[in-house]
Amino acid sequence: MEKKIILSGIQPSGIPTLGNYVGALRNWKLLQSEDKFCYYCVANMHALTVRQNADELRERSLGMAALLIACGIDPSISPLFIQSDVVQHAQLNWVLACNTYMGELNRMTQFKDKSAKHSDNINAGLFTYPVLMAGDILLYQADLVPVGNDQKQHVELARNIAIRFNNAYGETFKVPEPYIPKLGGRVMSLTEPEKKMSKSDPNPNSYISILDEPSVITKKLKRAVTDSEGRIAYGEGRFGVNNLLSIYCAMTGKNMDEAVNSFDGCGYGVLKTAVADAVIEEIQPVQEKYKYILANRGDLESVIRDGAERAAEAAEKTIDLVYKKVGLR
Ligand code: TRP
Repeated sequence: MEKKIILSGIQPSGIPTLGNYVGALRNWKLLQSEDKFCYYCVANMHALTVRQNADELRERSLGMAALLIACGIDPSISPLFIQSDVVQHAQLNWVLACNTYMGELNRMTQFKDKSAKHSDNINAGLFTYPVLMAGDILLYQADLVPVGNDQKQHVELARNIAIRFNNAYGETFKVPEPYIPKLGGRVMSLTEPEKKMSKSDPNPNSYISILDEPSVITKKLKRAVTDSEGRIAYGEGRFGVNNLLSIYCAMTGKNMDEAVNSFDGCGYGVLKTAVADAVIEEIQPVQEKYKYILANRGDLESVIRDGAERAAEAAEKTIDLVYKKVGLR
């Protein structure tokens, strides 16, 4: 059986939260199964849409690679690479840009959000960012692209570009599909639980970073917003309690009924402690592995180099095809 090709990417901006871990990173590990071949990309070129300090960007890119390995990506199976190390990303970008309409990019909701947020630096890269992302996907002839909801529109664009290109030049690109893993669930803010947990929230008590010390995790969860009902049950509009219960389920693998039953007669304090313990139990091994990988920097660098070489081999096949088709080679 032909293996499904998976590609996903993450920007090296900030430390992922528990929400990123549950919604994305943890699933990346699970995708590495017999019937799939996964490429994982640290999207450092995407990060340049916002002004970066060079040394920090380099460090954070390597750090993100280390974190992905710590989360269970096995780079000897799945090529793990830093985007700019594989020059084909930049090469494909121009060709795709010339096959994308301004109108399409104008409709991207993330561009609108981001340009509102960075009104002092609305650069052309911010606008064409979805084209770069389409290239990440199409270079590897990916079948499936695991993404959160906020990126679905970008995968949709990659599909449209692929279809358009194929129609104009003949079969070239696999038309990818977004892939929303079954396991997951949305983790909400601890302080405003009707909003998604976000690492860019100005209030650090609203999110758990996956590198937070255990004592910090406990403290943040103790302060998490609940309600005045005082009863542990999943219910409409009970955003805070629902969120704590969902996190508990995501960490322990219990279903909601089991979780609720196990807290029968308990108060919120007990629930919060149990959630904190479960989060720490899941995340502490990741943190230890992360520290170990970073401490062996030479090994990490060689893993990343190897990932880039393997990725480039696949990417070059696509570039060769595309460049020949459009008359650049
Ligand atoms: N744009 C994605 C984000 O900000 C990251 C990303 C870059 C990506 N290239 C990708 C995701 C390719 C999936 C596939 O979250």
